[in-house]
Amino acid sequence: MAHSHGNGALASGSYKLLLDLARSRKVLFFGGKGGVGKTTVSAATALARANEGAKVILISTDPAHNLGHLFDRKIGPRPVRIMAGLDALELDPDNTVDAHMREVSSALHELMPVNLHKEIDKHMLLSRGAPGMQEAALLERIAELVEEGINEYDLIVFDTAPSGHTARLMVLPEMMTAWTEGLIKRREKADRFAEFVRDLGRDSTMAEKTVGVAGSMEQERESKIRRILHRRRQKFSGFRDRVSDEETTSFIIVLAAERLPVLETIELSEQLKRSGVNVGCLVVNKRAPANSGDFLDERRAQEEIHLSTLIDAIPLLPRHDIFLQAQDVVGLAAVATFSTAIS
Ligand SMILES: Nc1ncnc2c1ncn2[C@@H]1O[C@H](COP(=O)(O)OP(=O)(O)O)[C@@H](O)[C@H]1O
Ligand SMILES: [Mg+2]
Repeated sequence: MAHSHGNGALASGSYKLLLDLARSRKVLFFGGKGGVGKTTVSAATALARANEGAKVILISTDPAHNLGHLFDRKIGPRPVRIMAGLDALELDPDNTVDAHMREVSSALHELMPVNLHKEIDKHMLLSRGAPGMQEAALLERIAELVEEGINEYDLIVFDTAPSGHTARLMVLPEMMTAWTEGLIKRREKADRFAEFVRDLGRDSTMAEKTVGVAGSMEQERESKIRRILHRRRQKFSGFRDRVSDEETTSFIIVLAAERLPVLETIELSEQLKRSGVNVGCLVVNKRAPANSGDFLDERRAQEEIHLSTLIDAIPLLPRHDIFLQAQDVVGLAAVATFSTAIS
């Protein structure tokens, strides 16, 4: 079912483009607009590799919980076995934030005098909804999963949430690294506990209240704080290194040959390029099949117009087209059938 085309610079030429990427990389991210087929295509890719004998884990970071729907079974935050060689899990952003907050909170409890614990809890409750909190927590979890999974699995496949969100996540390691870096530097200069608290929670009231205790038991706290910051920085910069190493990681943009997905794809590929993430290929899904009547011929011609916009904007990216199937893809057997479309 895979369809390659002799479109000059587009080059792909290979029927196995997507599978080749999956064979040669350790981490794949699938991103793109909602409804284009990220979940279907990422699952089919993961399954195709598992069928070749690879050990694969498929991870959804989309709050919409698509994997469960696709495989028609419950999948949660712990890996479940889908079939031999294929595990899957769904990261729930809310639960991930909760776990993250609990961790930060208990670290703060340990560091701060007991009389401030109530204050800490209040503060944590407030910062739960702070901008960027969910992304930061999700990113930290993704970084951990990559670090843990890279030894255990041959391939880690991420089915991500719609584009804007994903691109932000990919730029985030840079920000988080720079941020913890700056924090460490500043701490090395001015040993002020309050500064750490403020930056950790980005809230000044808490900091003002803690200035008072920043006097005495400082030495021991200082080294603890520094250890926490260093660990965090290591996590983010390690992740950064992995995702920007194109021999390890590829980002695959899934789209439909329609106007908006095309425009969003161009934007997303530029964002990813800027953040140093390699885009391995574009998957143009749900293409109208050829020679299937006038209506689909017309549709196909329309698709070619949209795709020429894509080629003009990002001429060098290999493209892998997949035909629109007669039926929706639900259940393991259907995913297996669909996976022949990529191999
Ligand atoms: N090539 C295809 N042909 C027909 N239906 C498809 C194809 N690819 C995906 N679908 C269907 O389109 C819908 C959206 O796909 P999904 O993978 O959930 O998209 P996303 O994860 O990008 O939101 C699903 O119902 C899926 O079965
Ligand atoms: Mg999905």
